[in-house]
Amino acid sequence: MEVVIRPTYEEMSIEAAHEVAKLLNTKPNAVLGLATGSTPLGLYKELVRMHQQEGLDFSQVTTFNLDEYCGLSPDHGQSYHYFMRENLFKHINIPIQNVHIPSGTTRNHEAFCQWYEERIEECGGIDLQILGIGSDGHIAFNEPGSSLGSRTRIKTLARQTIEDNARFFDKAEDVPIYAITMGVGTILEAGKLLLVANSASKAKAVAAAIEGPVMSMITASALQLHPDSMIFIDDEAAGDLNMREYYDWIQANKPGAPKPE
Ligand code: PGA
Repeated sequence: MEVVIRPTYEEMSIEAAHEVAKLLNTKPNAVLGLATGSTPLGLYKELVRMHQQEGLDFSQVTTFNLDEYCGLSPDHGQSYHYFMRENLFKHINIPIQNVHIPSGTTRNHEAFCQWYEERIEECGGIDLQILGIGSDGHIAFNEPGSSLGSRTRIKTLARQTIEDNARFFDKAEDVPIYAITMGVGTILEAGKLLLVANSASKAKAVAAAIEGPVMSMITASALQLHPDSMIFIDDEAAGDLNMREYYDWIQANKPGAPKPE
């Protein structure tokens, strides 16, 4: 697990985006796992900039999103379909048939979730999965208590998540209670995991995920089980880490890292 701490949200987002670009430049037909929420916005902005100004190519890329609210149609302003279209897809050259997002309107959740898992497999698995973290320590909508072996399924959202996400809706009662989400087990099968987190509101969850025990009560702690995971955080989100100096030391002295003048 590599912990990369940067002073600001912008720097952290740009560096995380460069990890994605590095993959696309070596594997143009990569399969990307995407996340929604306010945190990855800076990362997507940088990917769009690299596409527009530097020709970063998405023409062979396939994507799978982590989750979607049940009951919201793709045109609903708070659906994750809408979010992805507005913040990424309409600004890059990805063929729309290569995009996968869980259905918010399926009537057969079980069959849909099974199809989603099979589709990931058919596409060769996810090469790199982008993740956010909830203030309750969740990844995707794998709320506290979700099995670390869980697969794509329908989940009931925790009250904390509903409160956190109410800021995007007119009122808390409008936040859907259910979502379809990839499971922790699904996420752990990706070739590489890249988690982004910023602001003091995430400091506790970030510290629990990195330095706490691996447990289903903090599903982000499952990253400790993955052989290739990176966590990009800003100074504020790093506020509760006990080993901050250690992570900075490791980053400054990575094999091949430039030595200070
Ligand atoms: P946020 O959500 O980026 O909007 O804080 C993160 C999450 O809940 O995974």
